[in-house]
Amino acid sequence: MQAAIYPGTFDPLTLGHLDVIERASRIFDRLIVAVGVNASKKPLFSTEERMAMVREVVKDMANVEVDSFSGLLVDYCRNKHVYALIRGLRAFSDFEYEFQMALTNRKLAPEVETIFLMPKETHSYLSSSMVRRIAEMGGNIENFVPPPVRRALERQVRA
Ligand code: COA
Repeated sequence: MQAAIYPGTFDPLTLGHLDVIERASRIFDRLIVAVGVNASKKPLFSTEERMAMVREVVKDMANVEVDSFSGLLVDYCRNKHVYALIRGLRAFSDFEYEFQMALTNRKLAPEVETIFLMPKETHSYLSSSMVRRIAEMGGNIENFVPPPVRRALERQVRA
């Protein structure tokens, strides 16, 4: 049984993240989408809200589960006994950050391998902060996020 972890802040999950989830779930028998508590980022949505949104979006994907983690990602991998990490590479600009993170994680835990997947090119410009900004300014986000995320974002910015 080959399992993988797809970690991220998912504040919120976008169609680009979903594309990576779909690709990874076709390759691996079991995929854990791990929502990072990520205190350094001050997310708009709480960890529970981010997890609930991901759960709703992946509810029909039988081999995908949703969890959260705090602390070091490699410790989470070891606790789960899962040694494949999925990250999305959207554009060349992602490379340096992802390269640094993958090599740091490799130094910390050589048994954990990072695997990069490229989301569909139509999603390669997407980012969660861009989507949040558009929603805050009342723009239409339906081409950027799945419907449950759009509803949650619209509720959040109206509140
Ligand atoms: N589609 C759309 N957007 C994407 C994307 C995709 N396929 N892939 C990445 N992004 C965007 C996100 O929307 C996010 O955008 P934003 O910054 O505008 O909000 C940005 O890329 C990065 O987000 P994400 O993929 O969620 O990663 P992250 O950098 O926020 O978090 C963790 C990555 C959680 C894996 C990392 O912080 C971590 O490992 N934390 C634990 C601490 C640790 O172990 N540190 C040592 C490792 S170096």
